[in-house]
Amino acid sequence: MDTDPGIDDAAALTMALNDPQIDLKLITSVAGNVTVDKTTKNAQKIVRFFNEKVPVAAGAKQPLIKEFEDAARIHGESGMPGYDFPEDLPKPLDVSAVEALHDAIMSSDEKITLVPTGSYTNIALLFSEYPEVKDHIERIVAMGGSLGKGNMTSAAEFNVFTDPDAARIMYNSGIPITMVGLDITMKALLTPDSLSKLEHMNETGKMLHDIISQDGDNSDKGIAMHDVNTIFYLLHPEAITTKKMWIDIVTDGPAIGETVGDIRGAYHDGKTNANVCVDIDAEAFNKWFLEEVSQIQK
Ligand code: BDR
Ligand code: CA
Repeated sequence: MDTDPGIDDAAALTMALNDPQIDLKLITSVAGNVTVDKTTKNAQKIVRFFNEKVPVAAGAKQPLIKEFEDAARIHGESGMPGYDFPEDLPKPLDVSAVEALHDAIMSSDEKITLVPTGSYTNIALLFSEYPEVKDHIERIVAMGGSLGKGNMTSAAEFNVFTDPDAARIMYNSGIPITMVGLDITMKALLTPDSLSKLEHMNETGKMLHDIISQDGDNSDKGIAMHDVNTIFYLLHPEAITTKKMWIDIVTDGPAIGETVGDIRGAYHDGKTNANVCVDIDAEAFNKWFLEEVSQIQK
């Protein structure tokens, strides 16, 4: 997982670290919701919370070309406020995210799945420096983008807006990509009822409740758990409707960061580079979220 915790990233990491069907090999951090020093530390806090051994490698401090803008107004100054995590954190790896990704991918017996839940800077750098890794990646399941409106600008979703040049490289990589965008993440809100059930479930539920309650983007209907939808998709693809199409990324101008879906297949002659999530069973998402947490032994 390549991530920028981030409240919803932390929840996604929680599911990935604990679900027995997922073999999480490596966590890499990227600047996004907050600076990379903070996102690295936040990823380590989650690993430490569960006493897990999954390595964390620090990644890109800034986008490839565009200037870095964080989302601390939503995720707080630390990126993961509201809960007192242990301070004795494991050390990050000595190598950079790109080196760590290369080593993990090339040393794996099986093809791996990349799950980016921040901007795609590390992924773009990895593909530029080590194009050979592409043959060892089964697929990419990435949070980001939208066929409708954005959440950063009218056109752009935050992860793609943060580093559109990286997004363009990733979408042109030739690797099968599932776009887990706002079209579903704004539908599968964690309801106020689900949030309150988390609080007294177990220590993990309390931790998630406490950090999710700090999310600056909540409404009466609930809170979007954007990044968690990637894990839900991996485990329950039957609860999500997808549509194959070509996705282009706008890299300048007023629509910078927009993911343009060739819905009619007109521009790219019906060729596709992505499987775009277009609908989700929001009730099943809430049910699964609570079940996952209730099964965690902490
Ligand atoms: C994405 O932006 C970030 O703030 C969230 O962590 C998520 O990855 C949603 O647009
Ligand atoms: Ca994120």
